[in-house]
Amino acid sequence: MKILVTGGAGFIGSNFVRRTLQDAYPGLEGAEVVVLDALTYSGNLENLAGLESNPRYRFVKGDVCDGPLMERLVADADAVIHMAAESHVDRSILDSRPFIVANALGTQTVLDAARRKGKKGQRFVYVSTDEVYGSLPLENPDLKFTEDTPLAANSPYAASKAAGDLLARAYHHTFQMDVLTTRCSNNFGPYQFPEKVIPLFVTNLLEGQQVPLYGDGKNVRDWLHVDDHCEAVLTVLEKGRAGEVYNVGGNNERSNLELTHSILELTGSGNDKIKYVADRPGHDRRYAIDATKIERQLGWRPTRSAWPGALKQTIDWYRDNTEWWKRVKSGAYREYYARQYGA
Ligand code: NAD
Ligand code: DAU
Repeated sequence: MKILVTGGAGFIGSNFVRRTLQDAYPGLEGAEVVVLDALTYSGNLENLAGLESNPRYRFVKGDVCDGPLMERLVADADAVIHMAAESHVDRSILDSRPFIVANALGTQTVLDAARRKGKKGQRFVYVSTDEVYGSLPLENPDLKFTEDTPLAANSPYAASKAAGDLLARAYHHTFQMDVLTTRCSNNFGPYQFPEKVIPLFVTNLLEGQQVPLYGDGKNVRDWLHVDDHCEAVLTVLEKGRAGEVYNVGGNNERSNLELTHSILELTGSGNDKIKYVADRPGHDRRYAIDATKIERQLGWRPTRSAWPGALKQTIDWYRDNTEWWKRVKSGAYREYYARQYGA
């Protein structure tokens, strides 16, 4: 089994690659992984450090918009896990163009390469997001996103992911490709770029700095440990039905204020460390995933997201891996590729 992972040097990608290469992972013994990543600011080869000597791992630096390269890479892949993307909402508000290029055009390029040159029998999983559904009101806590909820993306990031999501659907429908889509809620865990709320707040507090809480702090997110997400993607790859969409979520809704208080407590910080700042424009109020379909049909369940233990474990990881995030914050992580691969 050879798996091509686009965006494999990012947060979820690197956790996915490590997990997939674990010898003990059932069904994937001996699997080979090829990582294709452009190493944008959020791509960090240090996330994959130590794998260079693994004969079942190969890294290729490249862009998902490069059609000929993608055609070469899909030609001998049994599976394509497409998760390369511009991923940060705030950046998409500042400049949406890179998002449209990487997430819409990039996805079209990878899909088209797979259609033209993909290995016979290849499966293609598009890693989408719950943000394509838009926002839920705080007032009705019973409402959740199901796979039938209409897409109503609100940020340029979400719109660009929705474009990829609809292209994945279209390539299955039009060309009968074996394409599946996952729509997951907010992930947390090791190796997350410290622009996202959890690693940003944790590393700020470990440095004695304040944390910028947007608006009234009442926005709600449904938190899932990255290992549970990776396992969901592997489950969909193994057992999913072609053309289907699967929601993935932790049933773990927290307001940002609640999350912040937990992080303050777990890092031994006081309330004076909260700095209320202007709200994110168009800030989605609440995300909540109904993951019944993947649970009932494919037997997936989150096992590593229990709160607050999983949050504490994640904070401990950042405490124990200060060097990793200090190198990210200083920009030093960018030297790693040249050291390993020359150019
Ligand atoms: P990330 O920003 O940490 O990683 C993205 C990776 O994609 C980086 O390594 C980057 O270098 C690479 N990349 C970006 N543009 C590229 C291009 N044009 N060509 C090749 N590589 C490129 O993001 P993440 O949080 O790991 O998210 C991974 C995927 O999961 C994304 O598709 C995202 O939309 C989706 N997702 C994320 C979450 C979350 O909570 N983080 C939740 C649901 C879905
Ligand atoms: O829901 C899945 C999505 O989760 C993924 O598709 C995205 O790639 C991922 O970035 C994430 O999007 P969010 O916008 O929800 O994550 P972020 O960590 O940026 O913000 C989480 C919440 O915290 C959100 O309500 C905004 C708030 N926030 C964020 C930052 C960075 C703050 O209050 N202050 C901050 O400094």
